[in-house]
Amino acid sequence: MISRPHITPYEEMNLNKKEQVKLMFNNIAHRYDFMNRLLTFRIDTIWRKRAVKLVKPFSPKDILDVATGTGDFAVQLAKLKPTKVIGIDIADVMLELGRKKIEKKGLSGTVQFIEADSENLPFADNSFDVVSSAFGVRNFETLEKGLGEMHRVLRSGGHVLILEASNPENMPFKGLYKTYMCRICPAIGGLFSENKAYSYLNRSVSVFPTGKAFTDILTHVGFTEAAHYPQSMGVASIYLAKK
Ligand SMILES: C[S@@+](CC[C@H](N)C(=O)[O-])C[C@H]1O[C@@H](n2cnc3c(N)ncnc32)[C@H](O)[C@@H]1O
Repeated sequence: MISRPHITPYEEMNLNKKEQVKLMFNNIAHRYDFMNRLLTFRIDTIWRKRAVKLVKPFSPKDILDVATGTGDFAVQLAKLKPTKVIGIDIADVMLELGRKKIEKKGLSGTVQFIEADSENLPFADNSFDVVSSAFGVRNFETLEKGLGEMHRVLRSGGHVLILEASNPENMPFKGLYKTYMCRICPAIGGLFSENKAYSYLNRSVSVFPTGKAFTDILTHVGFTEAAHYPQSMGVASIYLAKK
């Protein structure tokens, strides 16, 4: 397993990354959707739609959305008319808000949320046609363990679909992007939510593997045909791979 910098939300706190991540997302849950729309100028909604389009040709029946949070990716995936979408997350407050969203959208018959850990999924091997995660994998305590679990529960021939924030390499306005991530996001985060959460966002994205570095990890975990689809000049990335 490759060792990489261990980035946690609350550096001074004596809790492991998983406990800190759960605490942070529960703390910011009520502002989470609003902050996503604000900080990405609503482009996050386009990225989720584009990602879901990639698995539409496979007409998946059983879908698992890992680190589902308040369920925005699960809602998009439900538009593929699968038999079921199960969303799992460790942050119970995020899930509670997700459940209200699902009910409001009349999706309770298709989408179901369960409190569970991506690194120890409570499902049998080969259970799903698509296993997805949007902005989730960067937060795992052990990336390879979480991806390994996603591989295990996927059926042979099924697809893993990952959307994640990434580091733009050849962006003409890289300096501006850095200022936005390092200074502006945490400042806006501090105004409306929790400053530490948005400084963690910047710190965690800056060290997270992007592009080939990430598709290599997918291959190492056992996936095949790993492909990378950079979004918005590389500030986000979609990855699709097969079991
Ligand atoms: C940035 S949010 C993404 C939420 C949602 N997927 C979206 O598209 O907005 C990251 C989520 O990952 C969850 N998470 C982090 N580590 C996890 C783990 N080990 N197991 C399950 N969920 C986890 C957090 O609780 C949080 O809700």
